Amino acid sequence: MAELLFYNEYEQFYKMANESRAFRSFCKEAYGEDFSQDGFSDINQINRILKYIPHKKDVSILDVGCGNGKMLGYLHEKTNAFIYGFDYSSNAINEAKSLYPNNSEFKCGCIGELDYPKEYFDLIILMDSIYFAPDLSSFVDQLMDWLKPGGKIFVAYQEGDVIPKTENINTTILGKTLKDKGISFIMEDITRESYDMLLKKREVALKYEKMFIEEGNEEWYNLLIWQTDYANVSFEEFSKKMARYIFIIE
Ligand SMILES: C[S@@+](CC[C@H](N)C(=O)[O-])C[C@H]1O[C@@H](n2cnc3c(N)ncnc32)[C@H](O)[C@@H]1O
Repeated sequence: MAELLFYNEYEQFYKMANESRAFRSFCKEAYGEDFSQDGFSDINQINRILKYIPHKKDVSILDVGCGNGKMLGYLHEKTNAFIYGFDYSSNAINEAKSLYPNNSEFKCGCIGELDYPKEYFDLIILMDSIYFAPDLSSFVDQLMDWLKPGGKIFVAYQEGDVIPKTENINTTILGKTLKDKGISFIMEDITRESYDMLLKKREVALKYEKMFIEEGNEEWYNLLIWQTDYANVSFEEFSKKMARYIFIIE
């Protein structure tokens, strides 16, 4: 797996996330809840997922690129759904297994390689993970196969980081792929919300500088500062380079 994009970086990231008190405090304050986020999903985005979880018995949710499972843990706590997650980081999956041993199944594996039975999930979430699919078109087919009839897929999708910024909400690679396949979906542009969160992230990172350094996690602090560099430009400038959308696929 070591040759996969960012594999070693994510192994190190989740080791730090599992151990660092500064990072837990940072996430809680910057995002409203500590989900060991690598990036961009705050509690407002996660709470949007709740309305797509059916109110019935035996609901199952899959999180692709679930990290240490904390988002799933939150969704389970709110809805009692059975939670499934996979990620290629063994540091992340070992932690998920120990945090959430019940009503759950966590697997270490790669997008494009791991498989589930057909019509298995009521909801699939991909929070900043769909970009890591080696073949987006066939991965979308696979996700649709895994979905129960009437199920939904919730995707948080950022342009300007791992994938390039396209012109506007109608030109995203994911949107085009779905249209070509005749799959119905709705989109929401949350770029402004994302910019506001970035400002908050910067402010909170600065607050926890000393704690990160005392823990020996200065390099992660520096990364947070680098990731929030856009806090120094106006929203107009930011939105030329970055965009964030939520897709609900049915
Ligand atoms: C940007 S992070 C998002 C993590 C989490 N969903 C969140 O919102 O904070 C991407 C996640 O996908 C995982 N990942 C990246 N490439 C992967 C791949 N090829 N197969 C499985 N997981 C992968 C990483 O370990 C990481 O947990």
